[in-house]
Amino acid sequence: MMDYLLANTPLESLATECLIVAVYEGTQLSASANTLDSLTDGLIINIVERGDIKGKVADTLLISYLTKTEIKRVLLVGLGDKNKLSAKDFRKAINSAAKTLAASSISNATCCLTENKVSNQDRTWNARQIVESFDASLYRADSCKSEPADKAALTQLSLCQIDDSDAVQTGIKQGLAIAQGVSLAKHASDLPGNYCTPSYLAEQALEIAKNHASISTTILEESDMLELGMGSFLSVSRGSRQPAKLITLEYNGAGKDDKPIVFVGKGLTFDAGGISLKPGSGMDEMKYDMCGSAAVLGTLQAAAELNLPINVVGIIPSSENMPDGDANKPGDIVTSMAGLTIEILNTDAEGRLILCDALTYAKKFNPDVVIDLATLTGACMVALGQINTGLMGNDDALCAELTAASTDALDKVWRLPLDEEYQEQLKSNFADLANIGGRFGGAITAGCFLSRFTEDYQWAHLDIAGTAWKSGDAKGATGRPVPLLVQYLLNRANAA
Ligand code: BES
Ligand code: MN
Ligand code: ZN
Repeated sequence: MMDYLLANTPLESLATECLIVAVYEGTQLSASANTLDSLTDGLIINIVERGDIKGKVADTLLISYLTKTEIKRVLLVGLGDKNKLSAKDFRKAINSAAKTLAASSISNATCCLTENKVSNQDRTWNARQIVESFDASLYRADSCKSEPADKAALTQLSLCQIDDSDAVQTGIKQGLAIAQGVSLAKHASDLPGNYCTPSYLAEQALEIAKNHASISTTILEESDMLELGMGSFLSVSRGSRQPAKLITLEYNGAGKDDKPIVFVGKGLTFDAGGISLKPGSGMDEMKYDMCGSAAVLGTLQAAAELNLPINVVGIIPSSENMPDGDANKPGDIVTSMAGLTIEILNTDAEGRLILCDALTYAKKFNPDVVIDLATLTGACMVALGQINTGLMGNDDALCAELTAASTDALDKVWRLPLDEEYQEQLKSNFADLANIGGRFGGAITAGCFLSRFTEDYQWAHLDIAGTAWKSGDAKGATGRPVPLLVQYLLNRANAA
């Protein structure tokens, strides 16, 4: 665990193993680079004038020996054009600095990039991004390795306060809460299906409640769900030997009459497809089909860490989707908690089958808004790739708020339409609706399916199939959309 501190010593008397300062294109120094330059008789400007660092976004240069100061080293970081530094470029540059430091033997550093003006953002934002980025650079998915992975030497990062220590301190606190939420989500998501089961997720929720007095957790068992009439959810878990769980976390930060923001996260701890079995290649990645639920856990924890003056509920329907003698068969018809009957034309479209009952259950909390997050469709990946999360919903204002939060959090979303006309594709000859809508517009027809269960409240759906994890050499969970959701909660809390 890394320590993040506020540095309020002027550079003249600061002692640190490494100072991180910015340079811009066109041999322009940032304020701190300039101060350091005076302290070192023009060393910095000399190096920049030599052309050893051009100042392009994310350029880095480590100068590992300085004299005449207690600052032992300096890491120069390029920020591009001084007059138009975008949020995205700032984050890119910070990531590059964090990567350089994580690969070094430096154990404590001081970062001055709190001072560099980013378009449309304040100092709190800079500080928050710095903490998020450095923390992410230290994440290791080594809980199943027999030896822990090599840890970075860096254990302490101080952030320069400039003139407003409150702004930087707030950013550190927010950044840390988000980073810990992201890290929690990544750890749960990277665990394989034989470790991360519905019962494991339930234990994680109980653990979070144990560590945060403002969170309480309830776990419903299959027998409870039967009583509630969750025939759709239970039909999926019937094909698995792992008992399903319906996990609820309630964060209480406002009065009990304050309507909560409700998150519903898909917690499919392994999706083999069921009888409509998936092809073998890459199937291991279906351990990530619980990333929505992991993000709910991380977001609720962050809300509690930040003592936000709002109420938040997290609902996690969790199950496996396996082929089994008792599993759903194509053509089976089940009855959801809402009373709608569903013809299961493809057992691999199971996410919507467990979510629809959880979305009906959500009404019990008298929600202000309900936002579900799910690795729901391969079609969403085809449509938006791995950059944007798919956003759908029945309320323009809510979708706009989520889009605004996503821009500030650098956790992108793109809205897809849910026109009435798409509902045609979900018609069934035998039941109220079918669970698939054919070849075209698969992300949208999945959203349309959910929309049939969310008519009584303001609702948004985030399809994170393309954004919750990375494949290939960089295989691993991303922790998205925790940054987006915490930003949304921060915005809601500020408006409250
Ligand atoms: N968990 C998958 C969605 C998914 C697939 C996420 C690939 C990320 C990568 C979901 O349960 C699923 O299997 N969806 C089907 C729906 C189809 C049968 C209508 C899909 O996308 O193929
Ligand atoms: Mn599936
Ligand atoms: Zn799935």
